[in-house]
Amino acid sequence: MSDAPIPFCDLSRAHGPIRADIDAAIRACIDSSAFLRGPQTQAFEEEWAAFCGQRHAVTCNSGTDALTLAATALNLRAATVPSNTLPLTAIGLPRAGVTVTICDVDDDGWPAPPVAPAPHPPPAPLVPVLLYGRLPRPAEPASALYDAAHAHGWKPPPRALAAWSFYPTKTLGALGDGGAVTTDDAALAQTMRDLCGRDDQLRDRRQLTSRMDEMQAAVLRVKLRHLPEWIAMRQQIGARYDRAFAQLGINLRGPSLHHLYCIRVPDREGLQRTLTARGIGSKVHWEMPLHRQEGPWQASGATCPGADAWCASVLSLPCYPGLREDEIDRVAAAVGEHLGGGGGRQIAVELALAAGQFAAELALAERQICPARASGTPVVWIRHRDNADSGALSGNPTEPIMAPC
Ligand SMILES: Cc1ncc(COP(=O)(O)O)c(C=O)c1O
Repeated sequence: MSDAPIPFCDLSRAHGPIRADIDAAIRACIDSSAFLRGPQTQAFEEEWAAFCGQRHAVTCNSGTDALTLAATALNLRAATVPSNTLPLTAIGLPRAGVTVTICDVDDDGWPAPPVAPAPHPPPAPLVPVLLYGRLPRPAEPASALYDAAHAHGWKPPPRALAAWSFYPTKTLGALGDGGAVTTDDAALAQTMRDLCGRDDQLRDRRQLTSRMDEMQAAVLRVKLRHLPEWIAMRQQIGARYDRAFAQLGINLRGPSLHHLYCIRVPDREGLQRTLTARGIGSKVHWEMPLHRQEGPWQASGATCPGADAWCASVLSLPCYPGLREDEIDRVAAAVGEHLGGGGGRQIAVELALAAGQFAAELALAERQICPARASGTPVVWIRHRDNADSGALSGNPTEPIMAPC
């Protein structure tokens, strides 16, 4: 088996086969001397709206600006955002005058439903973030606005606004910044065009001056022709990982377009070290939940244990068009072996316990031994020599303290 590096992301694999078309599109823009507010942007807006199943698309400079434009057009005053998103979601909204409140997430990473009794006043409307390309929680009522930066290929519900990012690594990525809002509402689309500042005349005092340039639109038009095929490739990669991890209990539940392929593991840093040693890239999206960061939002006031656990355990694996099956299998094998599911090997769960931490450590270790249990691998629990919590475990440090499961 090859041991060539597997980068976390390699855009050249998608760009390589269409490079001549990209070069020609850029050259045509330069030759036409039309750089802003030209035919490429208009055509891309029509094509992107059609791809999303919406009537209008308004392009702008970034996904963050798209959120600001949409919230301004909707006159949104307050919004709830899940704590496991990245700050850009929650930065785009306050610039439109929205008061943002952070909420916790459940074990599946979806915004945690309010606990009974219902909070008073009721929580502000949710702006769902379709993280990693995961679809909204089944049966969740439609929202007015979605952060769809990760969800290219998703069709927003009628009347909803969706904010898209074309950051280079996105499923449809520009060669720089870019964003758009889609909507079925012609009046909202016009408001957003005025906010973008397309004319020589000031049409809205809240104008942002946020435009997509013609070269990016031209490149995005070339790439959009290949998007269905690239989305299908991501689905195949996701399905192959899902099959490999089926017994490990580490994959996320629910349908996904796999902008990112994420797993949740207890010993994330250890797994990353294993992957790095084998030349395999991985990344964390994201390490620090919003409620632990200073920002233009109001923390819920409560702690967000679900988001803390999520951000401490989520890990993204290579997933992009051009990733080969043998590479997916190498990544999956490395993950499986690290977690002890490699078959036949005994795994040792080392509990570096300080007094009082036993329950938390055990909960983490439980997840770690799941794969072993599923594959029938014996587990030996090893007590750390410096363990002060002698009440919890007893015996010689290398003595099995639980029967192999
Ligand atoms: C979930 C999410 N929302 C919003 C954004 C903002 O998009 P942009 O970087 O185009 O401003 C990003 C970008 O990575 C994102 O991942």
